[in-house]
Amino acid sequence: MNYYQTLERIHKIVKPKVYLEVGIRNGESLQYAYRDSLCIGIDPNYDMRFPYNKSNLLFKETSDDFFKKNDVLEITGGKLIDLAFIDGMHLFDFVLRDFINVEKHTNKNSLIVLHDCIPKDKETSSRERTTKYWTGDVWKIVPILKEYRPDLEIMILDSEPSGLCLIKNLDKGNTVLQEKFDEIVKKYLDMDYPQGGINQEIIKMDNVTLEKLIGNNGTESELNIVTFLKRKLGIAKPRCLGVLLCYNDGDILEEAIEHLLDNNHDLVVWNHGSDDNTKEVLDKYDDKLLERKYVPRKFDFYNLYQAMSKNLINNYINEYDWISWPDQDEFLEGPDRKKNYYAYICDVYNSKYNWIRFNNINYWFTERDNLSEKSPVKRIKYYSIFPGCSPRIRSWRANVTNIREFNHNELEGEQYPKLFNLRHYPMRSKEQMEGRINRDRAGLKRGQLNVHYENMKKNYERLQISSNKLNFDDGGELSLEADFDWNKIYF
Ligand SMILES: C[S@@+](CC[C@H](N)C(=O)[O-])C[C@H]1O[C@@H](n2cnc3c(N)ncnc32)[C@H](O)[C@@H]1O
Repeated sequence: MNYYQTLERIHKIVKPKVYLEVGIRNGESLQYAYRDSLCIGIDPNYDMRFPYNKSNLLFKETSDDFFKKNDVLEITGGKLIDLAFIDGMHLFDFVLRDFINVEKHTNKNSLIVLHDCIPKDKETSSRERTTKYWTGDVWKIVPILKEYRPDLEIMILDSEPSGLCLIKNLDKGNTVLQEKFDEIVKKYLDMDYPQGGINQEIIKMDNVTLEKLIGNNGTESELNIVTFLKRKLGIAKPRCLGVLLCYNDGDILEEAIEHLLDNNHDLVVWNHGSDDNTKEVLDKYDDKLLERKYVPRKFDFYNLYQAMSKNLINNYINEYDWISWPDQDEFLEGPDRKKNYYAYICDVYNSKYNWIRFNNINYWFTERDNLSEKSPVKRIKYYSIFPGCSPRIRSWRANVTNIREFNHNELEGEQYPKLFNLRHYPMRSKEQMEGRINRDRAGLKRGQLNVHYENMKKNYERLQISSNKLNFDDGGELSLEADFDWNKIYF
């Protein structure tokens, strides 16, 4: 699949109102511009040999001169650039300047495409041209952008012969590249083409994946073309945010945090007036937490979910793609254990579905627990699904985040058809159970929870479950056979 074919499809998907191309040569790539676009072509030596729309605005000058002499917004009538293709001088410092100048005139959903980012060999990718086929040291632009602009989304397609690099999440107010321009050039100027080639993630565009792309256009793609393309290819990696509300589950908090961190989640943690060791655990993770807040106990428990929802909506849903919000004594897993939770989230993220329900699998202390083992997750191995408990909603696409209620209401869009599993550790020892029932959860006056704990208080003996009534978690697949009646415990 050559780069002209890829460009043509990108135009069909983006349908740019304003398109700008640096380095138009004889118009071969420009001919694929979307028919209704206002096209700006720049090249000091252009010589048009391919059909082109006569309303195109062509500038016979270098791109540096063009941006110096012209006010882009004046040319476009105030419109920003939706799509740009940079294919002028094959030296990274020129491309970097072009990128800086173009980005200044883009909007949040624009896409910049760079040519020649996959170098073939040392000879054709050096600064001096000694070969007919020559991509110069444009390849350096990818490591530069990754180093200086980690906020950008970068995707390299293997379009023949030298690849196309798609860049999204542009920020016209970001001046880092301009400010550090001299430093960057100094650092990268003499950098050698690495022996053995460059190690970069390249997306293979075969006919099948292109077929998938051709048929798609419209709002979703216009909103975020890179995520859209990646999702179509099934390779998008969601940025995940984990949310924890903590109250006196300090013994299991460390493992709850580790589990989310291990699964690539950044964390927002609110401590709702705990008076156990929660503070010490959070201190230990302080530099790893994106947000940490202390909420006094007098703040109503049932309003906490809504307050956190507002926090997510106001501050995080544009920066993150996926939200996981387990209770603090719950550990989220996929529908089976072939991959980790994050890998399963990637699958759902790349699908059309928006949210996931989880089987509530109850882990409970038994007489077989090794009390010298501090970690509840290592100590407590006996469990059974709670079939009477409607599957909980703990994980969803960030942009459908709504005001969450304690009982975890549905979200917009469709539920993922498979249920995931959550390991729930409400009762981890006799002492912790008594503390929870008599103190931490006592007197909660709304909803089922109160019924739970009031009922539990009436008969402690039945709360001690014999291990032979439960399944043993040996690390293999979890059993979803219902062989324990949790109603006897809770009601
Ligand atoms: C590889 S060709 C472009 C090919 C064209 N985009 C296509 O795919 O059909 C590179 C072009 O960049 C032009 N060029 C070189 N230096 C430039 C500069 N500083 N500003 C703009 N264009 C430049 C050259 O004149 C040449 O036509």
